[in-house]
Amino acid sequence: MLVELKNIQKSFGANHVLKDVSLTIKEGEICALLGENGAGKSTLMNILGGVHQPDRGGIFLDGEEVDFHDPAQPINRGISFIHQELNLINDLPIYENIFLERYYKSSFRKVPHQQMIQETQKIFERMQVNLNPRTLVKHLDSSYKQIIEICRAVVMDASVIIMDEPTASLTDTEIERVFAMMKRLKEQKVGIIFISHKLQEVMEICDQYSVLRDGEVVSQGQVADVTTKDLARFMVGHEVRTDKLVRDRERGEEVLRAVELTSEEHFSDISFSLHQGEIVGFTGLLGDGRSELFQAIFGAYPLSSGQLYLYGKSVKIRSTMAAIEQGIAYLPRNRKENAIIKDMNILENAAIASWKKYAKWGIIQQAVHKANLAELQQQLNIRMEDYANNITNLSGGNQQKVVLAKWLATGPKVLILDNPTQGVDVGAKEDIYDIILHLADEGIAIVILSSEANEILRLCNRTYVMYHGNLQGELHGKEMKEQSIMELATGGETTVSISQ
Ligand SMILES: Nc1ncnc2c1ncn2[C@@H]1O[C@H](COP(=O)(O)OP(=O)(O)OP(=O)(O)O)[C@@H](O)[C@H]1O
Ligand SMILES: [Mg+2]
Repeated sequence: MLVELKNIQKSFGANHVLKDVSLTIKEGEICALLGENGAGKSTLMNILGGVHQPDRGGIFLDGEEVDFHDPAQPINRGISFIHQELNLINDLPIYENIFLERYYKSSFRKVPHQQMIQETQKIFERMQVNLNPRTLVKHLDSSYKQIIEICRAVVMDASVIIMDEPTASLTDTEIERVFAMMKRLKEQKVGIIFISHKLQEVMEICDQYSVLRDGEVVSQGQVADVTTKDLARFMVGHEVRTDKLVRDRERGEEVLRAVELTSEEHFSDISFSLHQGEIVGFTGLLGDGRSELFQAIFGAYPLSSGQLYLYGKSVKIRSTMAAIEQGIAYLPRNRKENAIIKDMNILENAAIASWKKYAKWGIIQQAVHKANLAELQQQLNIRMEDYANNITNLSGGNQQKVVLAKWLATGPKVLILDNPTQGVDVGAKEDIYDIILHLADEGIAIVILSSEANEILRLCNRTYVMYHGNLQGELHGKEMKEQSIMELATGGETTVSISQ
């Protein structure tokens, strides 16, 4: 099927998001849709997906104009949409999630469980997925959730699949899994629209690209003809720096010391220390336990043994509230599931972690929070219209910046950033890096959890590498190379000792 979007225009109030955008998607082709945060990528796809209607312009399927005013219509015409924020029901098994749309439409009184399970198994065989259809979705890690969403699209017999940032919160192994699936779909002549801020991925998997800026397509063509640097320039309108950012700064006083931290399921015997003004990386592959380690330090769940010291004093952190009071902030890895409160507005989302800090006689100080957010909005260059708007009206990358603002507003001494630039565009990434460097200069101890080697190498003074819940090694200065990180992350040995 040939899908054409012609001269699409769309405004939200005074915000002219799409001024005149045309895009063609052919079968068996993977087309990258690129652009800064808020450029209108999701909005354009929401128009194709029947979520929004264009103010002007039209959608053509094999030359015939269609009018989608309901998300069910494109599905019936073979267009499946995997939204930026996943749409699975955690408490249902995989097979029910896969057949959700169909099952509600069927006239069966009785739910045909056996049939759905068998059908799911067939799809898994076809797509070479090794999962039990009866597993509850909540037991799956995020890449498998993504894969279930893709299988759901396959069940619908989709000829075109829209994938809105499917890889933003995935690690490398998980991404490879999703890519393998995309290649298989491509062989089956499915057309794919792939939205991502990770330009390396675009080079690896896509055939075509289109870049949106200021509501228009500024560049369109074959991926083979461009470099990641070109794509970044098209997106932001100027060269994007790629140099190393770490500065040699004086290490201050020790802020946090972990001694033999263990949680039976996820990690064991972890000892490290963190000083004022340091940016320290924690990296590794899927299942390395780094997120769980810092969630435990943040009081999100208990440690089975080990000791934590803050400024040399032994502390027990039993709740996230206690952690915040001690000056620890943790920005989680997966924004939708752990960071955004969908029913709250932008200001409430940005203020919720610091309500207590600024409250007077138990009353929330709206004005203080507004002033704080105004300052952070400028620093982080957050694109938004009104603080009272719902957070879900913001583009994904701008939501991420609000989450960062929330934690900065707590005035942390230890700032733990788990996958901090998820869904953030190439230019805004640099803004966030600048802020991180500035915070370190002010003496905050910063931990960066990331599976992007480049992020760790550019930003961190040193990095710990984890492997299956153990600290496999620590790399400093000249030892910090992608190759050394990979060796340790895959369980290799190093001669470098872990400093205390
Ligand atoms: N339902 C809505 N109501 C009002 N404004 C909206 C709505 N949806 C999107 N917008 C606005 O439209 C603009 C484009 O948002 P969109 O989500 O399309 O960006 P995007 O290119 O997908 O960005 P990102 O890379 O951050 O996901 C933003 O300014 C956003 O605030
Ligand atoms: Mg988006």
